[in-house]
Amino acid sequence: MRIAKTLRPTRFVAIGALMLQTSIAVAQLGDLVGDPKQGEVLFRERLCYACHGFSGETGVPLRPLLPKEAFIVIVRTPPMRQMPAYSDLSPQQVAHIYAYLESLPSTTPSPDEVPLLNSIVDQARSASRGAD
Ligand code: HEC
Repeated sequence: MRIAKTLRPTRFVAIGALMLQTSIAVAQLGDLVGDPKQGEVLFRERLCYACHGFSGETGVPLRPLLPKEAFIVIVRTPPMRQMPAYSDLSPQQVAHIYAYLESLPSTTPSPDEVPLLNSIVDQARSASRGAD
């Protein structure tokens, strides 16, 4: 009956309370306000750009950005092996990086502004018209 003893109801309550606390802590991460300037320094010093590009849009793209709380949790304790853990960065430091990425203008042009894409689309359109 050892197992039954270990799994007494109060433990479930305690675990539940802990989970609740954790989710509150995670929700609070979203309230951290970062400074883009400090974030830029960290993004370069910690070599994030090596795998995510200087604008966070190449390699493994970071933009569009995840919600801030998810971003902070992933950078400090990534669930995937290919991403190094930056557990030495404080949540506030990761919020700086987030603010930096948020401050960057997107370098992805709208599809209308890509001449080659437009000529391919036009050709495909006229080819399909020809098939009618
Ligand atoms: C050695 C390469 C490498 C470096 C350096 C690196 N990452 Fe990553 N990162 C990855 C890879 C690979 C993934 C994707 C893993 C997957 O999806 O399985 C990832 C995923 C992520 C994600 C989640 C992906 C998403 O959808 O947004 C975030 C956020 C992230 N990295 C932020 C950072 C930040 C911030 C830094 C610097 C502090 C950093 N990474 C440095 C390789 C790297």
